[in-house]
Formats: sequence, C-alpha cells, structure tokens
Amino acid sequence: MNGKIFDLNEYAAKAREAAAEGIVMLKNDDHLLPLSKGMKVAIFGRSQFHYYKSGTGSGGMVNTRYVTGILEALEAEKCFVVNPRVKEVYESWIEEHPFEVGDGWAKEPWFQEEMPFKPGFVEAASEDSDAAIVVIGRTAGEDQDNKAEEGSYLLTKTELNMISDVCRVFKHTIVLLNVGNIIDMKWVEESNPSSVLYVWQGGQEGGSGIADVLSGKVTPSGRLTDTIARNIEDYPSTVNYGDDKLNFYAEDIYVGYRYFETFAKEKVLYPFGFGMSYTSFERKLKKLEETKDRVDVLVEVTNTGKYTGKEVVQVYCEAPQGRLGKPSRVLCGFTKTQSLSPEESVVVKISCPKYLFSSYDDSGATGHRYSYVLEAGSYSIYIGGDVRQAEYAGSIDVAELIVIEALKEAMAPSVSYRRMKPAAEENGQLSVTYEKAPTGTMDPMKRRGGNLPGEIAYTGDKGLKLEDVSEGRASMEDFIAQLSDEDLCCIVRGEGMCSPKVTSGTAGAFGGVTERLAAFGIPLGCCADGPSGIRLDSGIYAFAMPNGTCLACSFNEELLKELYEFEGLELRKNNIDTLLGPGMNIHRNPLNGRNFEYFSEDPLVTGKMAAAQLKGMDKYGVTGTIKHFACNNQEHSRNEAEAIVSERALREIYLKGFEIAVKEGGAYSIMSTYGPVNGFWTATNYDLLTTILRGEWRFQGIVMTDWWAKGNEPGGPADAKNTSAMVRCQNDLFMVTTNSEKNALQDNSMEGILNGKTTRAEFQRSAINICGALMHMPAFLRSRGIETELDKQLKECIEEDEKEQLDMRILTVEKEAEIPSEWIDTQKGKSTLLQVVLAEGDASRLSFSCRVPSAGELSQIPLSIFRDKQLLKTITLTGKDSEWRTEVLDLEPAFCSTYFLKFYFGQSGMEIKECKIEEVYEGSQRLTRVHTVV
Ligand code: BGC
Repeated sequence: MNGKIFDLNEYAAKAREAAAEGIVMLKNDDHLLPLSKGMKVAIFGRSQFHYYKSGTGSGGMVNTRYVTGILEALEAEKCFVVNPRVKEVYESWIEEHPFEVGDGWAKEPWFQEEMPFKPGFVEAASEDSDAAIVVIGRTAGEDQDNKAEEGSYLLTKTELNMISDVCRVFKHTIVLLNVGNIIDMKWVEESNPSSVLYVWQGGQEGGSGIADVLSGKVTPSGRLTDTIARNIEDYPSTVNYGDDKLNFYAEDIYVGYRYFETFAKEKVLYPFGFGMSYTSFERKLKKLEETKDRVDVLVEVTNTGKYTGKEVVQVYCEAPQGRLGKPSRVLCGFTKTQSLSPEESVVVKISCPKYLFSSYDDSGATGHRYSYVLEAGSYSIYIGGDVRQAEYAGSIDVAELIVIEALKEAMAPSVSYRRMKPAAEENGQLSVTYEKAPTGTMDPMKRRGGNLPGEIAYTGDKGLKLEDVSEGRASMEDFIAQLSDEDLCCIVRGEGMCSPKVTSGTAGAFGGVTERLAAFGIPLGCCADGPSGIRLDSGIYAFAMPNGTCLACSFNEELLKELYEFEGLELRKNNIDTLLGPGMNIHRNPLNGRNFEYFSEDPLVTGKMAAAQLKGMDKYGVTGTIKHFACNNQEHSRNEAEAIVSERALREIYLKGFEIAVKEGGAYSIMSTYGPVNGFWTATNYDLLTTILRGEWRFQGIVMTDWWAKGNEPGGPADAKNTSAMVRCQNDLFMVTTNSEKNALQDNSMEGILNGKTTRAEFQRSAINICGALMHMPAFLRSRGIETELDKQLKECIEEDEKEQLDMRILTVEKEAEIPSEWIDTQKGKSTLLQVVLAEGDASRLSFSCRVPSAGELSQIPLSIFRDKQLLKTITLTGKDSEWRTEVLDLEPAFCSTYFLKFYFGQSGMEIKECKIEEVYEGSQRLTRVHTVV
C-alpha cells in the first residue's frame, strides 16, 4: 500500500488472485500437485515462452506494460528449479522458428508451430528432472472462430506426440492449457498425464497466477463453466454451427449440460461445474427452506483435507417433465466459500428464486402461452460440486401449475424449424425427439403501433441546459423540446473510432458530439473496449485482466466485483465512462471465437458474473456496456448469419444473463450485435430492444450498435445507413461515424423523420435515453468542469509513462497541416505523440526537413517515427548531415481517418523544420472503405 487510491501493484495482486482462482484442475493423480519446493521441472512446449494473455480482436487489444508468462513466473517464484538444458533447447529452436504474428486483424494463427523432439531429448531431460510440465497454447477471437481442426480445437500431431512422449518417459507430467476456451480433451485418456489444468488466458498476471497454483500458494478452486464432451460433434449445436446465412438453434434450451445431463451423460468427459482441489470438502445440508418466491438452501461446508482452500457450492433443480420438456438439471444458485483452513467449517446460504425453476411456455402447451410457469409436480434440489455429482437434498412440491410471470409474444422465429424435446423411454431414460418450434403470430412492428411515444413540441433554444434537468429546474421533456431535427439526427450518431474529442485511442464518443449539442450542456461520453482491460489504440498502457472464461470459472462474484473496482478506477482515471464489456454471450458451442470474452454455457453464471463486474465499476461512477445483445454466438459471417431461436430458448438461455445484468447489476448501457435474430438485425429488433428490454425488464439506459452494424426494415435487406429503423426500435446510438454533423456515413435519420417512417417523438425518446444515461456518467461532471475528490486523487496516480498521453496534441489536417517545430521535443530519450485527424483524405504524406547542425562528424543521431504502434522508419543522421535534407514518408490509408504518430529521438542534436502532413486522395471514398473494412 502506498496510500494511493489507484495502485498498479494492488491491481496486479488482485488480477493475479483472479487468474489463479479461475484455473480449473481436471486431474491430479497421486496428489502430484502442488509441487514440492525445490523440485526440478523440465518445461516443454513453446507456449512457455509466448503466453497468450487473451484472445484476439477488439477484446484482446490491451496494450500492457508487461505480460508475465509461464516460464518467467515459475522462474521468478524460485519454488522450483527449471531444467536449464530443456530451456536452452527451446530457446535455440525458437530463434529459428520465431513467433508467427500473422497478418493482422483476424489473421493471427490459432497456434504456433511446436518443436518436434529429437531422439533421446525427453529421456535426457527426465534424468535430471523430477517432473515435467507441458504447455499448450491457443488463441482465437473476433472475426475468427475456432475450427474443429488440428491446431485449433484439436491438438496437432506434434503436440500430441509431445504430450505422449513426455508422459511415457516422465513419471509425473503436468499439462497446462493456455487457451481461450475449452478444447478437445481425448488425449488425456490416451496419454494419461498426472495432472491437467485449464489455466486459460489469464491476462498480464496470468503466469504468476499459474505459479501460485503449482506451488501451492493457492489451492485451485476454479470450476468448469462449460461441459467438456468427448467429441465436438457431441455438442448439439455443432451440426448447425457456422452456416453463412441461417443458424437454427435446434437444440433449443438444451445447451451445454442441459443437453448432456438430460440426454447424453455418456458423452461427457468433464461435467459442468467440475474442478479439483488440493484439499477436500464435505457438504452437509443444514436447511432447505421454501418461501413464496424462493428456496433457500443452507449448507455447511467443512474443509476435510490438508490444505487451506475455497469451495464452490452449486445448487441445481430438476423440474418435473410436464407438458413442457425440461432439462434434468438447471443451475439455480451457487456461491463460493471464503478460504477455509483444514477442519474449518462455514455455513453458506444460497437463495434460489423460483423464477429460475420455471419454464417459458412459448407454445401454449400448458395453457399459458407466453408465460413463465411452474408446472405441477415435484422439484428436486441437488447440491454439489458439479452437475453430475450434485446430490439430492430435498424437493418442493407444486400442487397446481403456477404462473410466475405472464408476458406477451416477442421475438418469435419467422422461419419454421424443428427443435429438440425430450421423450421418455421405457426405462425412464429421456431421449431426444423434435417438435416444430412455434412461429410468430404477429408482426412485431404492430406492437410498436400501440406504444408510440408522444411528440414533444419543438421550442427552439430556451436556454435550458441538461444541468437544469439534473437540478430539477426543468423537465427532461422541456429540455429535449429545444433540440431541432438536425440535433436529434446528430445525437444518435456516435463518433469514432479514436475520436479526437474524447480520450485518445478509444472506440467512441457519444452525446454532445456537435457544438450545438455540447452548448446545451450535453456531455461527451467516452467508451473503450473491453471487456478484459482498456483498449487504447494510442499505445498508452492499460491493465490486462484474465479473460471472461477464466474469471467466470472462479465462480467468485465478490472477487470479480473487487477486480472491476480497479477497472472502474482505471476508466475514471482515463476519462472513460463505459467499458465495452462485459461480453456475455452464451458459450453455445466451443468453436465460437469470442468464447474467451464470454463467461459460460449457463445463463445464471453469465448474468451473475456480469452483474458483479458492473457493481465493481459502479463504485467509481463508471459502468460497462454489456454485449452483444443477443445471440452473437458465431463469428463466421457475423454480419449476415441469422440466428433462428425459439422464444423459449431466448428467454431461458440467451437473454437470461442480460436480464440478470439489468435487474441485478443495474446495467444501463447495452451493445446490440452485428447480425440478425429471427428476421431482424438486432439493432432493429423492436421486440428485443423495446418489448423485452424496456417493457419487461424496465431497462432505462442506452442501446448502442456494434461498430458500423446494420439494421433492416421488416423483411428487407440490412444497411448500416438505416439509423431511422434503429431509432424506431430504440437502438439509440449508431456507432460510429467519423463526423456526426456532416453525417459522414450518409445515414437516413433525417429522411426517416421527414418521411414519417420514424417519428420525431421516437428520435426524442432516444435523445432522452442518451441524455439520461449521460447524467449518470462522469462525462456529466467533466462537461461542467467539476473535479471531484476522486478525480483529484486519481490525478496523483498518473504514471510517468502516461504523461505522454496527457501531452498528446491533436493535429487536424484539412488538405495540409504543419506540425509546429516547438511541438516536437528533439532531446535524447524524448518522444512526441500526436493524434492526426484527416478531414477528408484517405492516405497521407508526412514530410519534414532535418539536420544535425553542430556535432562531431561521427556522431549518430537517430530519429524513429512510429505510426500507431508500428515503426515506420528510423532515420539516423550523423554529424556530416549539417545541411537540411528532406524526408518524405507515404502513409497508408488511415482506419477511420485518424492515427497516432510518434517521434522518438534516441540522441539529442537533430533539428526539424517544415514538418507537415498532407492528405492524399486515393480515389476511393473513405466512407465506402470504412464499410468494406468492417
Ligand atoms: C466488436 C465490439 C467492440 C467494437 C469496438 C466490434 O468489432 O464486435 O465488441 O466493442 O468493435 O471496438
């Protein structure tokens, strides 16, 4: 503790704790782990040197100060002796086989070529080592799903050989899986290593978290948030996964363990909720208490083993197979104990709302169509460490069907398809049959008709500011009445990426994006990716957290809350109002590239984890934008592939986590997705964004699109320009355009107001949503120049290496602009960072004159120029270069018209003049390009 409110060391310690708690140990024969102090370990697998801190894409682009990998952490811990000879062999092989970075966005390789063993290598290693560690690494991410191929979901032949050779020769082998999501695990049976641990992608402290578990400093307590089945084909979603156009969610509510425990227990290698510990626990049911809305379960947990550790207690419900088919287990509650010393006990209480026992009847089979119902019968409660082991604890009886909540049709599939349903076989075993999923009975836009907001008469500028609303001097309606149609069109356009109006390098700005809007006192909100750390494309450092799956596997809500308090402080310090995360889509299939960002196949775990993160960030006045709402369950063809899902599966599985995040986590910012669900692209899905989100869940806040996402009219094609339809459905913000005032993306907002397709009142409603959300955000304080005590304290926490950002200047280039010489600090070791914003052009050209006026002939004065984080050129002048010479650098087209330029001087003595940037027109229109990039 150094007394600072935001301390990077404390942040790191918390992240390390989380990385360790998320580790799931699947096997530990003969109590091999924890390794004893001083043990000599031989480490195999190149990923010991190249730790994957996260997956790829927007959720993995955190620019960290450091990443502690596995080898490094094990060496630093000094608990074990790392076999130096094995390490040397890898080092020299890696020199010849360097890490392959790939070709940029979505083109990173899923794995790195592994070193094949030379004869005798493993045998020699075993002679002077007590145990072996084998590290397997994988990545995947946005725009790049995993594939059911070697090198992705499956291990490569070289990796399999590596594991089997090491296991054959060593008595003790530990396999560490540094992966974003679950992978094929059949090799465990074949090679039989002593210990196997999913260590996930643990962020910048990941390696240290692993070292803590291997050394026994931390007893593993992570549990699988997904079922690991024998084969990828065993997942019922696989058969429909990855289509370009249509993706039928034929497995319906039978996702993950809901399917396997009901129909196919034998296909499971490791059940949902499974995870081992160094110690052992005993669970004793103390009480099972039923109230009107809940079942409270009190369990005494005793540490019966030899190590201090934490235990996860899971409560499952088995509902009667009534008219609606039911999964034979549904997670209804869980908790994690504090650390228990050997023989210590604690009584934990888990409250399970009956809402979670209920089923949504979308067909009318129970006579209560569109209702959550508890069908009559006995509801058995099971308590345990995982879904398979959970033991019967008691039951509650429902004499007659109870309607928990009566709702209305919403988001019905427009296409007919068959969905899974159980049928009882003779021995009582359930088998899969199929039924026709009910399609919709009415066009959702008709529901809009009955819910149209009333128009607020335009008053023009009455001098009211947003502050007058927050201070109770004016109503929101009176305030909004001042906005012209043009203002309304502008306010629904977010700007970015890397808008120069907000923190450099962030994803977007929204709210007071024009001078007029700002003059009304509408603040400029700032959002940045997310989820596991702040993405700052300016190159400024941020903290990289463990990935979503790792965090969820901790099953520790309190820990996530505490960790995201740090995130909250970091956001606040960077003047960012909302993190674009947590990502909370369901792990429908192991192949989804973004599974690493998401939490689980189970909606309760998903919702609770998101709520915990939101509560953590909220402590410091900032929030998260929960995403991607909803069904972003495959990256392949994510702009086009339509999810066809039943209303029941939506409500019980795919929307449930979001519902929990809204109702329990207080979410007030949501991101819709790129793709369509049941006929409508989500940004224009009225039922999703209005009927369910606002109507049923009483959400008050903003919905923003994913970046450059499209929307459609009923039955029509989708287009990013269709903001009119988006606003009609209450997708309040289109993210992002480069210039809201100029309507850089040529959206159809104004056209929508003029032709009446979207009413002015609907635009006003979105403006109210946006202003309302902004009033909760620190942006509102910033816009009024209010500096709170917290802000002052955070200023004290600015690190040396962040000052660069604070000094960053913005250069707007309209055709041409000169960088004043005094902006560039030419002293040794100094760097100058600039954000360049191109007004119209596409590519650009940097030119300047330089010389070394007075230095010894042999002196070398290097200047390195970086664009974004990439070195463009190093120019080294010598003392002989005393005359001015001109340098010209052609710069590639800028993504979204903005980029970061950095000049770094390795030595003093150079002079620079006439430094300018010109816009270059490449013929192609930027707007179109932005479109095609996405
Ligand atoms: C991703 C979002 C992300 C946004 C901004 C999109 O490509 O799907 O999750 O927040 O970009 O970077």
